[in-house]
Amino acid sequence: MSQAELKTNEGCCCGQDKEMSPEVKKVYDIVQTHKGQKGALMPILNEIQDALGYLPRFAMEEVSKTLDMPLAEIYGVATFYSRFTLKPRGEHTISVCLGTACYVKGSKDVFDKLVEELKVKGSGDTTEDGKFTLDATRCLGCCGLAPVITIDEDVYGKVVPNEISNILKKYQ
Ligand code: FES
Repeated sequence: MSQAELKTNEGCCCGQDKEMSPEVKKVYDIVQTHKGQKGALMPILNEIQDALGYLPRFAMEEVSKTLDMPLAEIYGVATFYSRFTLKPRGEHTISVCLGTACYVKGSKDVFDKLVEELKVKGSGDTTEDGKFTLDATRCLGCCGLAPVITIDEDVYGKVVPNEISNILKKYQ
């Protein structure tokens, strides 16, 4: 959607003020709360990220329209900070510790194996089926178990790459 098109919409970017979905309403309310404030972009993006768990396209368009900023500029900010994600998080979050103790025990190989198995691009990416999000993290505080990964609340220690398939099966 071009800037010109965005500016012609009344109300929300979806043009459906009377039948806004809960997600669209949240975004609309957040954007309107900060409308006209100096430096509103970061607070708005933070609040949308917290409310929805990611920054959907329609939200970026709404921010662009309301703040009268180019969409590309907003995407530039959103992709610069690792806190922001443009895709929804997966049902399960896999965290691979790349802290020093884990790294020297081979956690990078475990991470690479997960990238391959899940067919994701890297840290912060989510599988196509929305099942898993892969994150690289710093020390998880259990270095004696290095290399360590967590899946949601479950902790796996002394993990080797060829165990990954079996571990993932528990969450399929
Ligand atoms: S370095 Fe991985 S748990 Fe501490």
